[in-house]
Amino acid sequence: MRQHVNPLSSNFNQINRIPSLNEMFGDSKLNLHLDIGCAAGEFLFDLALVNTSWNYLGIEIREKLVKNAKLKAFEREIKNLYFVFGNANNILNDAHSKFIIENLKSISFNFPDPWFKKKHHKRRVIQPKFINSLSNSLQKGTLIFIKTDVRDLFDYMDFTISSNFCFKTIDKKDFNFSECFNPNKVKTNREKYVMLNQLDIFERIYIKI
Ligand SMILES: C[S@@+](CC[C@H](N)C(=O)[O-])C[C@H]1O[C@@H](n2cnc3c(N)ncnc32)[C@H](O)[C@@H]1O
Repeated sequence: MRQHVNPLSSNFNQINRIPSLNEMFGDSKLNLHLDIGCAAGEFLFDLALVNTSWNYLGIEIREKLVKNAKLKAFEREIKNLYFVFGNANNILNDAHSKFIIENLKSISFNFPDPWFKKKHHKRRVIQPKFINSLSNSLQKGTLIFIKTDVRDLFDYMDFTISSNFCFKTIDKKDFNFSECFNPNKVKTNREKYVMLNQLDIFERIYIKI
């Protein structure tokens, strides 16, 4: 399977119909968390099982991973977990998907692809236009979590989000994690690898004000 997919390829311009929250989840009224770039979704499977009072939605650009994850969730009858295939930027900028952004309590960007070369920075998932469209539709109090092991990518994401006056940084010390989408601090696959190899992790939380 290809490790890196160019999100700006025209293959991703067409967006499949996004089901309603009622179609996605057993109880659409639960708090909703969105994980962008969820890969095979293991992180979300772990969360959905330990935290049944939240709904979890993953968006991933590699179609095969999404097909497998959806099948696995269906076979295991996990009702608080759903996956959508496509470029998260295109999907969430589309007017038909606005209901997703409006219903979110939190979003995570865990170890997004760094796209190291400057000419490829435009492929990074966090872009000023995307953050602007999130800031227009997210409810006040919605949280954004970013995490990466690449310092340059962290600085870029932090600058992009902090430049939008609708988002304020939250100090982790003042944060009540028991009310968060990840109460037991489940680790993503990349995070487990990074910890095993004793690499640095750069992370920050923002709140929509
Ligand atoms: C480095 S992996 C991290 C996977 C996982 N979040 C983790 O922490 O283990 C980045 C993932 O983001 C996906 N991705 C990259 N750009 C994307 C986009 N624009 N929309 C949706 N998924 C994207 C990639 O296909 C890949 O699975």
